[in-house]
Amino acid sequence: MTYSIFVSRQIPLSQEDFPADWDVQTWPLHRSPSPSELREACHHCHGLISMLSDTIDREFFDACPKLKAVAQFAVGLNNIDLATARARSISISNTPDVLTEASANHAMALILSLARLLKPASLAASRGEWIGWEPLGFLGKDLSECRLAIIGLGRIGQALARKMHRAFGLEVLTLERPSLKLDQLDFPLQALPLDELLASADIVSLHVPLTSDTHHLLGARELALMKKDALLVNTARGEVIDQDALINRLKAGHFFGVGLDVTTPEPLPKEHPLYQFERVLITPHIASAETQTRRAMALMALNNLKRDLAR
Ligand code: GLV
Ligand code: GLV
Repeated sequence: MTYSIFVSRQIPLSQEDFPADWDVQTWPLHRSPSPSELREACHHCHGLISMLSDTIDREFFDACPKLKAVAQFAVGLNNIDLATARARSISISNTPDVLTEASANHAMALILSLARLLKPASLAASRGEWIGWEPLGFLGKDLSECRLAIIGLGRIGQALARKMHRAFGLEVLTLERPSLKLDQLDFPLQALPLDELLASADIVSLHVPLTSDTHHLLGARELALMKKDALLVNTARGEVIDQDALINRLKAGHFFGVGLDVTTPEPLPKEHPLYQFERVLITPHIASAETQTRRAMALMALNNLKRDLAR
């Protein structure tokens, strides 16, 4: 059967990767389609390769009556109305595993950059403020002495914990949960309740999916529990942090560094107050952006779509 497929951004796949009898259209622009553009582009489609920036809600499904499968080119699925998809027997898939190491690598890069003040130091040098070798200049954190709290000990959280423990010997903490099986891990780890975890960590890194339970998991109260000179890294979803509360803490002088690969909204507009803080390092949602990883994600999304259309 000839399937009509829409790919909502250019991804590392070529025409030859797709089955010859599929009619594949790709969104041509270097920005995401708006919700109405996406509905318009997909109204006749059987399958969609979607991005995390797409709005795939009930209105979208209403507009696409032939749709059988959505293959998301990402691991997070918070942009998709999963309940409606299930009710209409539309298959939804994602690309876990292949992006685990890359995503953990980016969280690690943010932690190292913040711990060693790379952004403020680089900005100072480029402003002509490099006046000589400074015995007391830009003193960073001693990573081996830090306690790292991983919130969300799934694949990516575990990979980061393992890398940081092996590389720096630092102590790893995580959130206490009944389902946690610490004896199955190949590195030592201590589980604590949230308040204690936040109060004792020098570095907090977020790796939870965005759900109604994790929305604003770190709000004003939780952020205030953290050490004043802590590092906070978010490579999960912007909405896991109450961003206004974060800005208030930053204005009050809290945090040694904050690394955000995800924000509310995305893209974060140029005039946003978060860009004003030198100790806030913002990257444009690039945690999985390693070349081979993105190719593996593309092939996995394609295979997921083939499998789900053949159902
Ligand atoms: C990235 O944020 C992803 O969900 O893959
Ligand atoms: C630094 O460059 C040193 O030589 O200590």
